Amino acid sequence: MLLLDFLKQCASNLTFAKLKTYAARSPDSISGDGVKLYLDLLKRCVGNFIYDDDVDLMGNWVIDSKTGKYASSEGMRVLPEAKYLGEIWPSRAHTMIGMPRLENLQWCVEEVLKGGIQGDLIETGVWRGGATIFMRGILKAYGVTDRRVWVADSFAGLPQADRMRYPKETNIEFHLHQDLAVSLEDVKKNFQRYGLLDDQVRFLEGWFRDTLPSAPIKKLAVMRLDGDLYESTMDALVNLYDKLSPGGFVIIDDYNGLKSCNDAVDDFRREAGITAELVLIPGAGAYWRK
Ligand SMILES: C[S@@+](CC[C@H](N)C(=O)[O-])C[C@H]1O[C@@H](n2cnc3c(N)ncnc32)[C@H](O)[C@@H]1O
Repeated sequence: MLLLDFLKQCASNLTFAKLKTYAARSPDSISGDGVKLYLDLLKRCVGNFIYDDDVDLMGNWVIDSKTGKYASSEGMRVLPEAKYLGEIWPSRAHTMIGMPRLENLQWCVEEVLKGGIQGDLIETGVWRGGATIFMRGILKAYGVTDRRVWVADSFAGLPQADRMRYPKETNIEFHLHQDLAVSLEDVKKNFQRYGLLDDQVRFLEGWFRDTLPSAPIKKLAVMRLDGDLYESTMDALVNLYDKLSPGGFVIIDDYNGLKSCNDAVDDFRREAGITAELVLIPGAGAYWRK
């Protein structure tokens, strides 16, 4: 039923659907039970690998005279390979993390479900919400009703980099990028489009430094960090790692994508004496198991 409902939601647009050339990287035909089919289609939808009209918002930034912030005037053309690997800011997809990181996320959640590792799922830094929508979809597909998905973001973009406080902070002025600020209302709307907004989804709105220390989370099984900055990565690790169950996963979206992020992870692991293998994900990103 789940898969059929979902297909019906997509059906009105299907006449416009064209397979992207990237699709050569994914199996042309898929098989499996309803769960596998639903999750495969959900990944293709949140990553917008179905339609081929994306432009890359990372290109051609100009200052918007009204807001004083960067906006993409004309996006760069999307290279399918870069989109597949999650190396662009897609104009329409609900997540920018690309297929290998979506597959990694699915694998981590399925492992904790199979292994009975207790706790909720969280992403810190959600943008349009696609990765958290996918997390909620995985719980739905497996009939899991006793775990929540925590959706943590300012819903207003990144904070200004504080290089006085964090000398290893990035020089990139992410806070000036309008395209990275997606409102809570819009993220909720995106969940609704998939029929996945319900009380198993909890929103933590505000800067991580303010929301995470007092977040009413008891235990976590998967924590996915995607805040780009040294500060954002460190705030999530410091405030959430103790809540992660043994056997749970930490996923770092920007490992080997942003030096500030590598530095925060490496500093945290060294200071906490963590020696668990850090496994790299194709393209960018890494994870370890507690
Ligand atoms: C690269 S985007 C996340 C991409 C997303 N995971 C996806 O699936 O497409 C970074 C997000 O982190 C949020 N963010 C970064 N640092 C933050 C902080 N310190 N507090 C709150 N939100 C933050 C930004 O608002 C933005 O939505």
